[in-house]
Amino acid sequence: MSINRILIIIGGGIAAYKAPELVRAFKKQGINARCVLTAAAAQFVSPLSIASVSGDKVYENLFDLKDEAEMGHIQLSREADAILVAPATADLIGKMAMGVANDLASTTLLATDKPVFIAPAMNVRMWHHPATQRNLEQLKVDGIRIIGPDEGDMACGEFGLGRMSEVDDIVSQVMHGLNQHETEHAPPALAKNDGVLSGKHVLVTAGPTHEPIDPVRYIANRSSGKQGYAIAAAFAASGASVTLISGPTDLPCPTGVQITRVETACEMLAHVQAALPADIAVMTAAVADWRVETQASQKVKKNADSKAPTLTLVENPDILAWVSQQSGAQRPGLVIGFAAETENVSEYAQAKRIRKGCDWIVANNVSPENGIMGGDHNTVDIFTNDDQDKWPAMSKTEVAQKLVVKVSDYMLKQPQ
Ligand code: CTP
Repeated sequence: MSINRILIIIGGGIAAYKAPELVRAFKKQGINARCVLTAAAAQFVSPLSIASVSGDKVYENLFDLKDEAEMGHIQLSREADAILVAPATADLIGKMAMGVANDLASTTLLATDKPVFIAPAMNVRMWHHPATQRNLEQLKVDGIRIIGPDEGDMACGEFGLGRMSEVDDIVSQVMHGLNQHETEHAPPALAKNDGVLSGKHVLVTAGPTHEPIDPVRYIANRSSGKQGYAIAAAFAASGASVTLISGPTDLPCPTGVQITRVETACEMLAHVQAALPADIAVMTAAVADWRVETQASQKVKKNADSKAPTLTLVENPDILAWVSQQSGAQRPGLVIGFAAETENVSEYAQAKRIRKGCDWIVANNVSPENGIMGGDHNTVDIFTNDDQDKWPAMSKTEVAQKLVVKVSDYMLKQPQ
């Protein structure tokens, strides 16, 4: 994504002294920086020095009527292609997490619809405080990108996490983040087939399942659910009515998607059964293959003889196979499975497609070195009964969008 102007909101911390350097570094990339200074930041860095490096007016006061007439806070954020808060103090982070808007910086942040990055800087204890960490979690859920902080000596004489990241790191992470943002927010490339999925019911499973051992322990796997959520989002964006049955994940429900959150494979099966009929089913969930035969009703205690307990596992129902084996109106017109393999990917995936009776299978190599489980990228091959598509590495959002295009093409060819 090429950008022309970034709005830098400078918070009131000692790291504010790096702001002129930050403005210069963006300029070197051909990006103009306009700055907003909080009242506290003006104690650390002078508006004049910022204005002289940015070559632009520095904005400080929400109630400066002349500024509001020339350039309101809404316009300030709209005229920028992205916003960077640096240094992002604990105070600013807290306001952002709570949606507080009581000065120019916070109102601008609440009014923006642009990508927002923050480069936190604060004392190590403030950084680790549960309130700060809670606020940061909220910001992540809200889609705000967090850069740093770094570890090191602090102005207060302590050592630890809390130093603002180096200027060059901040600039390169903003540039990288903007490219990613562009890919993730690109509208699905559906122009050609637009409308074919409108009103179709798409059932998606996603995430891992957790199989309890006792009230505090469970068997799980490393699936993040990102690919399934991206697929649900892409189908919803194409006008489909999407039901997402999700195992435990930290992900927010995609816009326009009807979500049911479950824990175990058996619960997932029950909700999949209740969600049918569907026109299309995409089963991305990493369903645990086994569950513990008898879940202990109380926490399993260590024995005096130090003998580890033996867990008896029983096989979970295969949800994909169950859906594929339905008949008549209960059988979705197109059933797509996923195959997570670590070796012989195409051979195992093909065999899985036939064994489970699904129409297509999307195969990926989930060996740890590929970083697919939990990562943002995926490299997949798609097998149908008569062809194979090999897609290069791309973001999970792009995989989802391409899959929607492939499904649309397929649906167009089906007799009505
Ligand atoms: N699947 C399912 N129910 C299960 C196991 C898997 O619905 N109990 C689905 C997954 O959602 C995926 C496909 O089956 O779409 C393949 O999952 P995968 O984990 O790759 O295969 P498994 O069936 O678990 O086989 P194996 O562990 O032998 O590779």
